[in-house]
Amino acid sequence: MIEVHATAKHMLGMPPTEFLRDYWQKKPLLIRNAFPGFESPLQPEDLAGLACEDGVLARIVAHDPKKDSWMLRHGPFPEDMFPSMPHHDWTLLVQDVDKWDADVGALLERFDFLPRWRIDDVMVSFAAPGGSVGAHVDQYDVFLLQAQGRRRWQIDDRPNPPVHFRLDVELKLLQRFEPTHDWVLEPGDMLYLPPGVPHHGVAEDACLTFSVGMRAPAAAELLGDFVDTLASEADESLRFADPELEPAKDAFEIDAAAMERVVEGLNKLRMNDPERLGEWFGRFITTYRTALRPGGREPGDGRSRIEIEWDLQQGAYLQRDPWTRMAWQRAGRGARLYVSGESHALPLADARHIANAECLDGGDYAKLSITGRDLVQDLLQRGHYALEFPEDAAR
Ligand code: SIN
Ligand code: CO
Repeated sequence: MIEVHATAKHMLGMPPTEFLRDYWQKKPLLIRNAFPGFESPLQPEDLAGLACEDGVLARIVAHDPKKDSWMLRHGPFPEDMFPSMPHHDWTLLVQDVDKWDADVGALLERFDFLPRWRIDDVMVSFAAPGGSVGAHVDQYDVFLLQAQGRRRWQIDDRPNPPVHFRLDVELKLLQRFEPTHDWVLEPGDMLYLPPGVPHHGVAEDACLTFSVGMRAPAAAELLGDFVDTLASEADESLRFADPELEPAKDAFEIDAAAMERVVEGLNKLRMNDPERLGEWFGRFITTYRTALRPGGREPGDGRSRIEIEWDLQQGAYLQRDPWTRMAWQRAGRGARLYVSGESHALPLADARHIANAECLDGGDYAKLSITGRDLVQDLLQRGHYALEFPEDAAR
């Protein structure tokens, strides 16, 4: 089945185990009414406003259907541009809206059947009627949630579809696209696409689409980063060595014994050590794809630790910065907590608790061990949390 209806119990129209077994990374799935009665937490004007701000990744794609020509522009855009935009055939796309807008960010909880570190961002697009980004394929799994208005999605779900790109446009558009399915999505409907499925979404009327996109680093990126990490930490004295060298039969030959020593030389970097590999991966995957942390909070706010702990007891809470990525991993009897590329040793309960809580209140904080509290305080000082006060709580 390629089309299902969500049920009160299952957003995906089936238990997550079934979805992961039969569809995830394998087959497209259209879920009607995945978010019943969905009302977009964000309006087109809000998206346009965001696209004018510095540090926001935004693009506009416009299509001229008569000439079949495409135009791509990168933001930030001038504020006076949007009112003069044509009434059709263009799309505004903004990346990372989950970090800019807490209500959009909260939607990610619905995807907790996936590891959070597998999720890259929520991209939101606004399309004027007829607007689209053209037929293309993506390298990542994506959940396309229709948030407002209607969009027609066409996909080609044949095995090994042709994926040759047009050379005349900057966008990676397909030369040929032969859809096997054609649907109109209403607000709350959601289309899941595994990587490599050609798709084309055209706005029927002015519409908003939320794309929950996954993060799947290329094998070359993984290897490159791991090797860089190993190399930067390696001791210079770890070298190719051949203390048992025998007289050379041919001074120009690289023989089998030499190759064994090459492998030994490489292994000195302990590439197969699971602990090192785990630590590197945790740091790698919690590092945001750009070094930029646009939302970076003001470090601390001059309050002392005692004052902060007092505030927490009085109802204040610690709100995690939306750009801070966390993941944890078991390590011996404890755990390692990864925070935006850093690694911290913690008791298991602390690591799990801190990673899962986007907001820590006094009660949460009190449950942490001393080491856990020390880390949270340190993260607060470095802008990974902000101390917030409920509106009417006395300071
Ligand atoms: C869009 O929202 O217009 C494009 C999303 C996609 O095709 O990945
Ligand atoms: Co796409």
